[in-house]
Amino acid sequence: MFHNIPDAMLKRMQEMERLDVADRTDGTPITKRLRQIPPETGKFLALLCASAPKGNVIEIGTSGGYSSMWLSLACRVRGDKLTTFEILPNKVELAAKTFRMVGIENTINLMHGDARQLLDQYCQIAFCFLDAEKDIYTDCYEKVIPNLVTGGLLAADNVLSHQDDLASFVEHAEADPRVDALTVPIGKGVLLCRKI
Ligand SMILES: C[S@@+](CC[C@H](N)C(=O)[O-])C[C@H]1O[C@@H](n2cnc3c(N)ncnc32)[C@H](O)[C@@H]1O
Repeated sequence: MFHNIPDAMLKRMQEMERLDVADRTDGTPITKRLRQIPPETGKFLALLCASAPKGNVIEIGTSGGYSSMWLSLACRVRGDKLTTFEILPNKVELAAKTFRMVGIENTINLMHGDARQLLDQYCQIAFCFLDAEKDIYTDCYEKVIPNLVTGGLLAADNVLSHQDDLASFVEHAEADPRVDALTVPIGKGVLLCRKI
């Protein structure tokens, strides 16, 4: 998976890593910032996703498509399409450009809209990456967990970087008898939940 990342994808990943660092410090407004995961989180998610049981792979919060590229590597191994949800039109446009640039546009369903509405159409979920605004985490979690297959995984980013904002979400997941949950201190902190 990591030994044969296509050159075009590697190049776009590196370019987006530079852009992400720059737009956190140069005054770019939040709606235009990439706000993406670091590469180590991308690798971690790809390993988890490739090892998840049979079923659908979804992502909530596409931004420019950086994390989607990591998940696409896992989807290639799984033989699945990735479905990714993004609410902002400028981000949808940017992600579509990313996917075209690296030649993965036919293996990704890029869905424009509020994930909380769109998620109702998805069941038999094997892997979900949750990386949107923090105030919708619990709503998204409650839509995904009932539709996760047994052994399916939900990974939520930012639980350490936004510890205060996400404290009640993490408590909710840790106390949830439907899943086993653990915070993994990688990147900005990933809460990993496995459906029992
Ligand atoms: C932290 S960024 C995602 C970064 C991306 N996962 C990456 O690592 O490349 C969060 C994204 O979630 C999107 N978002 C926020 N609320 C949403 C919602 N209700 N439905 C879909 N997308 C949403 C934002 O517009 C933003 O682009």
